[in-house]
Amino acid sequence: MNDMDFTDKTALIVGGSSGIGNGVAQNFRARGADVHVWGTRKSASDYSAADGSDLEGLTYSCVDVSKFDQIDAAKPTFESLDILVLCQGLVRYGKAEFERAGWDEVMNVNLNSVMDCSRKFHPMLKESAGSLIIMSSVVAFRSSMGNPAYVASKAGAAALTATLGEAWARDGIRVNGIAPGYVETKLTAVTSENEKRHDMMVKSIPLRRSGTPSEIAGAALFLASPLASYVVGQTLVVDGGMILS
Ligand SMILES: NC(=O)c1ccc[n+]([C@@H]2O[C@H](COP(=O)([O-])OP(=O)(O)OC[C@H]3O[C@@H](n4cnc5c(N)ncnc54)[C@H](OP(=O)(O)O)[C@@H]3O)[C@@H](O)[C@H]2O)c1
Repeated sequence: MNDMDFTDKTALIVGGSSGIGNGVAQNFRARGADVHVWGTRKSASDYSAADGSDLEGLTYSCVDVSKFDQIDAAKPTFESLDILVLCQGLVRYGKAEFERAGWDEVMNVNLNSVMDCSRKFHPMLKESAGSLIIMSSVVAFRSSMGNPAYVASKAGAAALTATLGEAWARDGIRVNGIAPGYVETKLTAVTSENEKRHDMMVKSIPLRRSGTPSEIAGAALFLASPLASYVVGQTLVVDGGMILS
């Protein structure tokens, strides 16, 4: 028996069009799952490798999760669902998150839409006794001076993971989360494309390097697998040791 074989399993990765979510999607696909992804662009051909995207073999749908009616209206491209991974996320710089518009924009995508997607697919996950995985961040457990909404949304995501973990365990759904450290994606370009900032960030990581989307995916594979059958409501830190001290 191979606990990492996801043949006959169906996964939806919201925010699976690029970066970490795309790595999660391709890792489930490589292990046999039928994988569906949501992103913001009109079609799969609007993404390229330069965006950190590989949509080969994935079923893509355009659903803007900041528009809650789009989540409600989205017609699933699958009949049943075993694994839901919520990787949607954005950050706003230049003090924008201190203003109402920036705060709302970030909270809507990073936290409100997480609950909306969870609620939408709760019946399907209950039916399959499935697994829900919510992408938080190490900043959930710290501060990040310029990004109050991002930090609050990620702390909220970890708290939501614990609460849904408790509430939905009785439905046979295991809810867990992942808190990545530093992964080079379009979300972190402001750091990765600035040599000085990038070097400072890497110096703060005991492993002395950024993580890869596949290394974050490793935690998602574990949490969705039978190996994690007794893990509920936890947000697993995957950060190369970044927040140990
Ligand atoms: N990179 C890191 O170091 C890091 C660290 C901790 C946590 N995280 C979290 O990991 C998750 C993935 O981020 P990433 O670094 O991989 O960045 P990314 O490459 O920018 O991926 C973000 C994903 O969210 C999607 N998204 C954003 N707004 C959306 C909207 N309104 N509707 C639907 N989808 C939307 C994006 O779609 P498009 O591709 O269409 O833009 C993309 O698929 C996020 O939750 C982020 O907060 C990242």
